[in-house]
Amino acid sequence: MTDYALLCLQVQGMLEADRRYVPALSNISALLMDLLPDLNWAGFYLLRDGLLVVGPFQGKPACVHIPVGKGVCGTAVEEDAPQNVPDVHRFPGHIACDSASNSELVIPLHSDGKPVAVLDLDSPVPGRFSEEDEAGLKKAAEIIEKLIVWET
Ligand code: SME
Repeated sequence: MTDYALLCLQVQGMLEADRRYVPALSNISALLMDLLPDLNWAGFYLLRDGLLVVGPFQGKPACVHIPVGKGVCGTAVEEDAPQNVPDVHRFPGHIACDSASNSELVIPLHSDGKPVAVLDLDSPVPGRFSEEDEAGLKKAAEIIEKLIVWET
């Protein structure tokens, strides 16, 4: 079981070291890949002119652009709601960047109440993300939203 209280403290520490989104999200994606078992991709897509663009991540090279409304990430932005997908092969329009992925968790990140990015986690293990994982990662996302500087 992941210690999400500790993970959140580490996320906060990384943001306090430098709140700009490139250093903060780079180190947070490395932290998530290191601490969460059974992941094959951990990172961020950033909303730019209505399109999700790949941001800091750990894992294999990924799709560069995802339109809002497409795939699990674009659905999370369009619906402004986390997507916890136990079997990506049953998700209509899932975008397969790595054929090893079987489950996925996507959490939207906001600025001024509007989605500006998503946290995206992929796993080769079906049903990898429990309700506890989702709740713990939503808390981490709230810390990011509170402390990050998106503009620089
Ligand atoms: N599977 C995602 C695409 C991004 S990769 O998982 C890194 C989707 O369907 O939006």
